[in-house]
Amino acid sequence: VDLCIVDHPLVAHKLTTLRDERTDSPTFRRLTEELVTLLAYEATRGVRVAPVTVQTPVGAAEGVKLAPPRPLVVPILRAGLGMLEGMTRLMPTAEVGFVGMVRDEQTLVASTYAERLPDDLSGRQCYVLDPMLATGGTLAEAVRFLVRRGADHITCICLLAAPEGIDRITALLQDLEVPCTLVTAAVDERLDERGYIVPGLGDAGDRLYG
Ligand code: PRP
Repeated sequence: VDLCIVDHPLVAHKLTTLRDERTDSPTFRRLTEELVTLLAYEATRGVRVAPVTVQTPVGAAEGVKLAPPRPLVVPILRAGLGMLEGMTRLMPTAEVGFVGMVRDEQTLVASTYAERLPDDLSGRQCYVLDPMLATGGTLAEAVRFLVRRGADHITCICLLAAPEGIDRITALLQDLEVPCTLVTAAVDERLDERGYIVPGLGDAGDRLYG
């Protein structure tokens, strides 16, 4: 996996406030959206474009427009939903597909409870949104899903990642042989015995919607 840790003072500032246990839910939601927009700027660096010419009031200008097929944005419910608006603000023409997944708090195994994605993802660039990459079980399952449908280019956007999750995604993608970029605001130390990222920011789903 091509790992991109976005190193920017505004990202670091917003992430620090997000981590702070005193940050309330409305602020947490707003900061999540803002952070995603900043991360998405980096994450969409490889989005496919096609050349176009437009007429300015003064002359002809060579430029580009997003190339078809439209990119697909996939928030992983529930917590990934908090990242959707920040992403679509930057790329309003993207299509949105949904996957609902939950991690069993005892076994840490992720299972899918909802799915609404186009059947054929051949040739589509997919952007997966999930704030936390912990054991990597959730993201691995989501990536497998997209690849099975034919996606050939996947970018995962997380707010925080644990080394364990990055290793797992890296191993999976070596097997799948699909190019994948992982964009995150930070890589934390480790997971604790409950599978929480340390120091992390707690449970993103609860802090957004709990
Ligand atoms: C959390 C988080 C990720 C997942 C990360 O979701 O939002 O989706 O766990 O863990 P993993 O990398 O070990 O799989 P959770 O299952 O708590 O669901 P929620 O988003 O509905 O809160």
